[in-house]
Amino acid sequence: MSNPRKILVTSALPYANGPIHIGHMVEYIQTDIWARFQRLRGNEVLYVCADDTHGTAIMLRAQKEGRSELDVIAESSQSHQRDFAGFGISFDHYGSTHSDENRELCGQVWQKIRESGLVKEKQVEQLFDTEKGTFLADRFVKGTCPKCGKTDQAGDNCECGHTYSPVDLIDPLSTISGTTPEVRSANHLFIELEQLHEFLNEWTQSGDHLQTEVANYLKGHFLGDALRDWDISRPAPYFGFEIPDSPGDYWYVWFDAPIGYIASTKQWCDANDSNIDAWWKSDDTEIHHFIGKDIVYFHTLFWPGVLKATGFNLPTKVHVHGFLTVDGKKMAKRDGTFIKAETCLKHLDPSALRYFYASKLGPKLDDIDLNLEEFRTKVDTDLVNKIVNLASRCAKFLGPTGLSDTYPDDGGLFQQAADDADEIAGAYEDCDYNKAMRLILAAADRANPFIENAQPWVLKKDESKARELQDVCTIAINLFRQLVIYLAPVLPELVTKTEDLLGDKITSWDQAQSPLLGTPVNKFKHMMKRIDPKDIQKMMDETAEEVAADAAASAASELASKYNDSPQPLIDKPISEECTIDDFVKVDLRVARVLQAQHVEGADKLLQLTLGLGGNEKRNVFAGIKSAYKPEDLEGKLVVMVANLKPRKMRFGLSEGMVCAAGAGGSEIFVLSPDDGALPGQRVT
Ligand code: MSP
Ligand code: ZN
Repeated sequence: MSNPRKILVTSALPYANGPIHIGHMVEYIQTDIWARFQRLRGNEVLYVCADDTHGTAIMLRAQKEGRSELDVIAESSQSHQRDFAGFGISFDHYGSTHSDENRELCGQVWQKIRESGLVKEKQVEQLFDTEKGTFLADRFVKGTCPKCGKTDQAGDNCECGHTYSPVDLIDPLSTISGTTPEVRSANHLFIELEQLHEFLNEWTQSGDHLQTEVANYLKGHFLGDALRDWDISRPAPYFGFEIPDSPGDYWYVWFDAPIGYIASTKQWCDANDSNIDAWWKSDDTEIHHFIGKDIVYFHTLFWPGVLKATGFNLPTKVHVHGFLTVDGKKMAKRDGTFIKAETCLKHLDPSALRYFYASKLGPKLDDIDLNLEEFRTKVDTDLVNKIVNLASRCAKFLGPTGLSDTYPDDGGLFQQAADDADEIAGAYEDCDYNKAMRLILAAADRANPFIENAQPWVLKKDESKARELQDVCTIAINLFRQLVIYLAPVLPELVTKTEDLLGDKITSWDQAQSPLLGTPVNKFKHMMKRIDPKDIQKMMDETAEEVAADAAASAASELASKYNDSPQPLIDKPISEECTIDDFVKVDLRVARVLQAQHVEGADKLLQLTLGLGGNEKRNVFAGIKSAYKPEDLEGKLVVMVANLKPRKMRFGLSEGMVCAAGAGGSEIFVLSPDDGALPGQRVT
């Protein structure tokens, strides 16, 4: 084999403000397959990723949930990594853009960009939410279209097709506070990308780094005109890194996010005795970014521009994939197709989704569709019926003997599949996993008839055919193992199970060239099962429940932020020790009507109340509410009283109960009063 390549692989850094869903997984599975493939080929691979933690969305969410941004991003990082691990994503390192390494690298990059004369300052008019004290990104504004007059339109474009700046909206409203924002002007820092136009033209159009559609898109949409200045600063408040030479300003999240690729590499290097320059400033290293089609601009214009200006290596390739649709439609909460990775893992074997995505992913940007019925049948037919079946039907017959010592005549099947190795490898290399899966399945389709003809289960019944049985099963197991090697980048769990069965590690692509012989075969343990349609249904039901729960929670937190109730009462008087229902029912609370209320001679806090409990039942109660109520305000009112309180003799007479009230005291006493309709005498429970 030629010299091993040294390859840095990245997936886009997922936003920390939400959970990982099955749309994201298209990307992480695609990248992981590629990384595992390269490792299997003997190349040196470093696969890094990180959470993308900065920006307005995280700031607002932290505010809304009443906790710190650090708290939010720590929780996200944990749940993201848990989900990725669940799907077998083999990151070598998973970092965060909110790290010391990233802050430092951002500073270095920034200084270089300043020195290259790429930075300029401009005043920017933006809407400012005075209640929340923050500038509003376009997506947090709505209003009336200045062109056609339609109300309730987005901050930057109208249904009529008109695009505008939010400051031009008529009657703009902040979607986070519901208030009318004001126009404020602030100084922003821009990178003048146009200075790099010629370089970007060359780099994007060379044919080496980008898929043709991507290169053409850039040429058609951006490179034909002067490149726009790129606004990379945001005034405080902003959750991010403050710009060292521009206090009060922060780098826009998209400035520090891609630098996170370098920072994450650096963290790995520091922990593994390696040097960052060996990955980002060396001619011997390839850099491969995997991204979705929505973030092409950032990765193919802005990012190469920054790298070029600062002396880091440029990406060898940026691999762009399409978007996941579910049953032909964009994932949407209201359709119940916004399936979280976590929910999927609860009900389905992650290998099933890995295989399905692999079988759908091609080298182009087409969207890929998850049709749940197709998903189920494909996994059943391809993996269970055609691949795993090769082993499950034959392994059990090899227990006593193990594999034959020499490879029997299989009519050329093993050799034919061995000869496919380069073509399958080429397909993986080009991210044409669909083609790789088709080639592998074709080999399985050749292997299965061989076994059906040889009928090991019949041979088994005739002791004189023991040798023939061993040979047939040796062939079946080797054809199976060959396919598992080819599928290893996609199905790491199947690899582990195959290793356990045959007591032999799968570590190299070239192992598919020679059969495994003369070794024992362990007891066959189940490898993959058919998908139960009920499990798919459970996943969909649970997703629908989550959506409903989310909607309720966000409605509740919207009201909570509208009322903005102070935590002080609970702080002043924490909730008492737990009581049982038996404790509670001892206190007999009743609805009562105030039949009479009057001042008490010589008492400056008390009112005397006559409370009626229906019929002729009456109670005399002295209540300390004079500072807040006049007698005439109370007469006729329904109140709640403790009706079985032991009567107490007071200076002014006998008190036969208590009226329930809340409040801080003084003029702030609020007597509890059920709505009309409750009847005096009724018990309060
Ligand atoms: N934080 C940015 C990336 C910064 S990289 C320096 C971001 N995050 S994201 O969470 O929105 O998306 C992460 C990746 O998942 C992106 O490459 C995005 O294209 C991809 N996908 C998100 N939803 C997707 C689908 N529905 N389908 C396929 N890929 C999807 O963008
Ligand atoms: Zn309009």
